[in-house]
Amino acid sequence: MIELVVDQVHYQYPKAKKETLRGVDAVFPAGKTSSIVGQSGAGKSTLLYLISGLDVCTSGRILLNGKELLARDLDSYRRNTVATISQSYLLFPTRTVLENVLYPLQLAKTEKQAAVAEATKHLLSVGIEKELHNRLPSKLSGGEQQRVAIARCLAAQSQIIAADEPTGNLDEENSNEVMRILSDLAHNQGKTVIIVTHDRILAEQTDLQYRLENGKLYSNERNA
Ligand SMILES: Nc1ncnc2c1ncn2[C@@H]1O[C@H](COP(=O)(O)OP(=O)(O)OP(=O)(O)O)[C@@H](O)[C@H]1O
Ligand SMILES: [Mg+2]
Repeated sequence: MIELVVDQVHYQYPKAKKETLRGVDAVFPAGKTSSIVGQSGAGKSTLLYLISGLDVCTSGRILLNGKELLARDLDSYRRNTVATISQSYLLFPTRTVLENVLYPLQLAKTEKQAAVAEATKHLLSVGIEKELHNRLPSKLSGGEQQRVAIARCLAAQSQIIAADEPTGNLDEENSNEVMRILSDLAHNQGKTVIIVTHDRILAEQTDLQYRLENGKLYSNERNA
């Protein structure tokens, strides 16, 4: 079981006048969904970048099962351990929908036919029908692209799922479905699921709830 601990993390963008994160502490347990809410510009995506190993904190530590991320091979961490659903960059634009979901399976050296079957299964599970599988992402709606990104996340079989506004472009029905999938990954597959969202109703459905404000993360009392 993987536990992710954020310990007194500070972060300042190179040319920024002040820190974006000013001593963030958090525990994201395996088998649970955690949400992070906060105003636009609060630093939610920044925190997810750090958790995803896409950037490194200015000070403080991020620990995975007691071992600092910095002491790990970050390439391998990004490839094998964490799957990120990004807010701004979702999919490879020059690969088809199916190829996007095949990507993590190819990295894992899954045999071609099995990989195609698996990628197809994940796409169908998020409601992306076969006729869309061979299109380029630009030929899909924003919400459809978001669901393909989630299918790719499912195919990656990563222990940690870090999702930045995964339901931002979705209608209520699809948003509920995505939440169901993410909850299932935590509760039935023991994954560590971290969801950044503006949607309070959605945040209330998660096991742990955090709010990022003034560079610090506050936990909802329900967490206790
Ligand atoms: N590359 C960058 N260089 C300098 N400052 C940045 C950079 N990226 C983001 N920031 C600033 O850092 C702060 C936090 O940004 P971040 O993207 O983490 O916010 P957020 O909470 O995800 O907001 P939103 O809800 O709008 O997505 C903002 O004030 C933003 O302007
Ligand atoms: Mg953001």
